Amino acid sequence: MRNSSVRRSQIIGTGGYLPTMVLSNDALAAAYGLDTTDAWITERTGIRQRHVAAPDELASDLGAAAAREALAQAGVDASEVDLIIVATATPDSGFPATAVRIQQKLGVPGGFAFDVAAACTGFVYALGVADSLIRTGAARTALVIGAEVFTRILDWTDRGTCVLFGDGAGAVVLRAGDGEGSADDRGVLGTHLHSDGRFGDLLHVDIAGAPAGSPQGVVRMAGREVFRHAVGKLAAAVDEALVAAGLTHEDVNWLVPHQANLRIIEAMGRKLHLAPERVVVTVDRHANTSAASIPLALAEATRDGRIKTGDLVVMEAIGGGLTWGAALARF
Ligand code: COA
Repeated sequence: MRNSSVRRSQIIGTGGYLPTMVLSNDALAAAYGLDTTDAWITERTGIRQRHVAAPDELASDLGAAAAREALAQAGVDASEVDLIIVATATPDSGFPATAVRIQQKLGVPGGFAFDVAAACTGFVYALGVADSLIRTGAARTALVIGAEVFTRILDWTDRGTCVLFGDGAGAVVLRAGDGEGSADDRGVLGTHLHSDGRFGDLLHVDIAGAPAGSPQGVVRMAGREVFRHAVGKLAAAVDEALVAAGLTHEDVNWLVPHQANLRIIEAMGRKLHLAPERVVVTVDRHANTSAASIPLALAEATRDGRIKTGDLVVMEAIGGGLTWGAALARF
């Protein structure tokens, strides 16, 4: 049932940050002596290059840079932020949370900050948690950030995983709006989150079996198995979100998917009957930046004028856990 007094979390700013260093497929193969080719990687994944963080850059540095851009775009001062949620699989350390490090880097004087761990679905989870906290009145102005230095947890001898990922961060500023029934009812319409721990080993960080010199462990993935789960689970989550909001595929203006593989992204576009130009794609240039991929894509598509005020945007992601989910937002 819809409640006309429900508050809405409006997305009032977006930002992104990519490290300076760019590694093409050919350069990656040459640097690590991998038995792969640019043609194989491009054909199977759509990935042509990825950004790689400098040795002294942490997830909190990338996240803070993305957050600064989002705050500037929103015209919001850091002192107004009362909630920071960071989605990351590559935190600065076990604790303090990367979100607290970002709080300090931005000079946010109050509120509360914490991380969520849902791997590549992390941004959708973080958006759902922030939206809930805004709807209950626990927070008014939130930064929701996806920040990853994923190249730190790759096994560079495993061609089945190391070619797939990159580093980056994206952020959105949410602010409590008046909600449905008001003159301005834009905002997050719903988030639909799922997990199934039975599939935890399909995509996980292996600490025990990690090569010497990788204290955080390395990513292991049964790629074909993950692929098999992806489109069905994502399509079901998107349909669930649309039905809950009383909307249909025809209402959708933009699909901003998690960027893991172009074949999965294109299949989702077809499921939604969306023209290819209505699907925001960054995987070719960014590779899979895990929790950062959706907010980075949002930042790109709002900055270049594709996503406009009033547009209905569908976001969806799947990742380690397995976790998956979808979010709907009116910009
Ligand atoms: N270069 C060349 N060959 C490679 C390779 C690479 N980088 N990576 C794997 N291969 C080889 C495999 O060794 C295998 O060789 P074999 O048949 O001799 O054993 C062959 O390619 C096929 O491997 P497979 O893993 O079945 O390929 P695929 O078509 O499933 O593509 C992925 C691999 C990883 C691109 C694909 O499974 C995928 O994208 N999965 C989903 C990943 C994903 O979205 N993960 C993130 C979710 S957040």
